[in-house]
Amino acid sequence: MAKPKLLITRKLRPAVEARAARDYDVILNPEDRVLSAAELIAACRDVDAVLPCHSERFGAEVIGALGPRLRIIANHSVGTDHVDLAAARAAGIVVTNTPDVLSDATAEIAILCMLGAARRGAEGDALVRSGAWDFWSPAFMVGRQVTGRRFGVLGMGRVGQVAADRARGFGMQIHYHNRRRLPPDLEKGAIHHDSLESLLAVSDVLSLHCPATPQNAGIINARTLAMLPDRAIVVNTARGALIDEDALVGALRSGKLFAAGLDVFQTEPGGNPALAALSNVFLLPHIGSATEETRDAMGFRALDNLDAFFAGLDPSDRVA
Ligand code: DGY
Repeated sequence: MAKPKLLITRKLRPAVEARAARDYDVILNPEDRVLSAAELIAACRDVDAVLPCHSERFGAEVIGALGPRLRIIANHSVGTDHVDLAAARAAGIVVTNTPDVLSDATAEIAILCMLGAARRGAEGDALVRSGAWDFWSPAFMVGRQVTGRRFGVLGMGRVGQVAADRARGFGMQIHYHNRRRLPPDLEKGAIHHDSLESLLAVSDVLSLHCPATPQNAGIINARTLAMLPDRAIVVNTARGALIDEDALVGALRSGKLFAAGLDVFQTEPGGNPALAALSNVFLLPHIGSATEETRDAMGFRALDNLDAFFAGLDPSDRVA
């Protein structure tokens, strides 16, 4: 029987590409660049399955133009905000993601962002690297200690729970807001807030871990930033769309916020020049899941979903 034809849109780890090539008739993107909507449509018309990353946008117009052959979008990401799930459902295209396997890696980056922001990691690195470090005193580069402070998790899903576990290691008190309260074995003593406003009021560090649904777009804005304790720290390893970046710049400039640690931005790649111009931000280029182990696991998980689908089963990570 002919192997299903699979488009892999970006360069994946060698072991993942090798397994894909063993089981599928694979088309790779050797240039490893983002395909335009027109290229994506053209490339997907002639395949049974596509394995994209969050960098490829499957909006309603793209999905509507894909033609009848494509049957599954097996994402190499936990986030699925780049895919119009309703349009996929309407077109009869199955969509899967890669949950769980990136929770540890992404939580590590949340903690790096928190510490980088609190302890002025970017400023310190730039100073030493530039050769301009010519001074030391007890008043020099004083940051904020996180030990003993309150860690507020917006979206206590898989990544949020691991980030909370790591923050507990710093003696932080964990608070969270989810629509539904977690069972005690997952809550582990964290304090549930049934409103966003109540969580914001106690978050010395606010860490975002909720999906970028249309309802959550700009959930951190001038109004909600004003509700944080003075000199709070905002950490975002989820999606840039969650934050109104102009409002964030304003709060960082005014001193309302002590700092921010950001791995994701509204515009990617590239980021936001107004944020990059500030000294009290710690910035990373969307590398939450970028470890060897995790990228292997994400690739294998996407292939597991494809294998299940082509074996006539319901893939375990089906989201549409
Ligand atoms: C994800 O999996 O959603 C990460 O942001 C990487 O794409």
